[in-house]
Amino acid sequence: AEPLRIALAGLGTVGAGVIRLVEANAALIARRAGRPIQIVAISARDRSKRRSVDITPYTWEDDMVILGERPDVDVVVELVGGSDGSALACARTTIEAGKALVTANKAMIAHHGLELASKAEVAKVPLKFEAAVAGGIPVIKGLREGAAANEFERVYGILNGTCNYILSTMEDTGRDFADVLAEAQAKGYAEADPAFDIEGTDAAHKLSILAAIAFGTAVDFRSVETTGITRILAADIAQARTLGYVIRLIGMSETDTNGDGVERLFQRVQPHLVPFDHPLAHVDGATNAVVAEGNFSGRLLFQGAGAGDGPTASAVVADLIDIARGEAGPAFSVPVEELVKMEAAH
Ligand code: NDP
Ligand code: HSE
Repeated sequence: AEPLRIALAGLGTVGAGVIRLVEANAALIARRAGRPIQIVAISARDRSKRRSVDITPYTWEDDMVILGERPDVDVVVELVGGSDGSALACARTTIEAGKALVTANKAMIAHHGLELASKAEVAKVPLKFEAAVAGGIPVIKGLREGAAANEFERVYGILNGTCNYILSTMEDTGRDFADVLAEAQAKGYAEADPAFDIEGTDAAHKLSILAAIAFGTAVDFRSVETTGITRILAADIAQARTLGYVIRLIGMSETDTNGDGVERLFQRVQPHLVPFDHPLAHVDGATNAVVAEGNFSGRLLFQGAGAGDGPTASAVVADLIDIARGEAGPAFSVPVEELVKMEAAH
């Protein structure tokens, strides 16, 4: 069978993880996808940088923006990051060239998801972003497909691995915030600018995408009220423990009438006191967990590694397998046309 030919933009933590996974599990992936997945071209900022994977088998492209215009590429996988700039230019060019786009970039989807989904619909190409929310946990697919028949009142959870690593490690060891953050960076969990993690913005990006999937609405990142973990001290964690709680950074989106009869979406990311007997109190390290209560499914709990090369690559390659099978499905959980109308009425 014809291979699915992919180009990788970005060869950092996640990009290198994708190369490792595609190479290590090539035969299994080909069997499950019905055809091989073949990396043909790659791009990053610095060609001469020493990397954790061998990139010599692949064609280097200096300008990642034109990867999608290469005739030998079917899918571009954007793993650069940043809501705008090169990542967005690459995404737009790829879709406009009639190629599929897979991305792990929650910042870009939170800010430009509807625009990219609209372009993808016009071009009739898949747009996939499973890795953008909760790393290796298939929560987008789970809510959009597995639980598609349900109405959700609320979706919430631990959405940032770096913050959870910091809070749970400080709790277990009493170590200093800055020291544990440096460790999370070394493990590849943090964003290129870790302020996005510790100030709660990354969790807000993910929450806005998750809410759009769960509630069938357009992504509304701007309405997420966000407080990060920068002001939390080891003493706060110790005091919470004395009272029977742990501190976790929780993102929560819920529909509420707030007393005036008009239903609205309330979205917040903030540190919460979580009682010891709640399942989220036992989510430690870079693990993420998402809770969604469907009116027919009951409570669903998705839990797993929320950051890092392997888990994130697993979600990226799952999207590629869907595309290879011709089963990419829609970007969001309702048709883009409907989301555009909602956005216009908003
Ligand atoms: P890294 O910082 O490790 O890697 C970024 C890559 O992009 C590098 O290869 C870098 O090139 C390249 N790059 C950066 N800027 C440019 C530019 N202007 N032009 C060309 N190439 C550029 O990031 P991650 O791999 O950690 O993250 C990638 C994406 O995945 C981000 O959107 C992130 O939010 C998302 N993500 C990350 C997860 C994680 O656990 N790390 C989990 C889920 C999503 P060079 O190597 O030459 O410097
Ligand atoms: N920086 C992110 C986190 C990576 O720590 O959760 C995964 O999206």
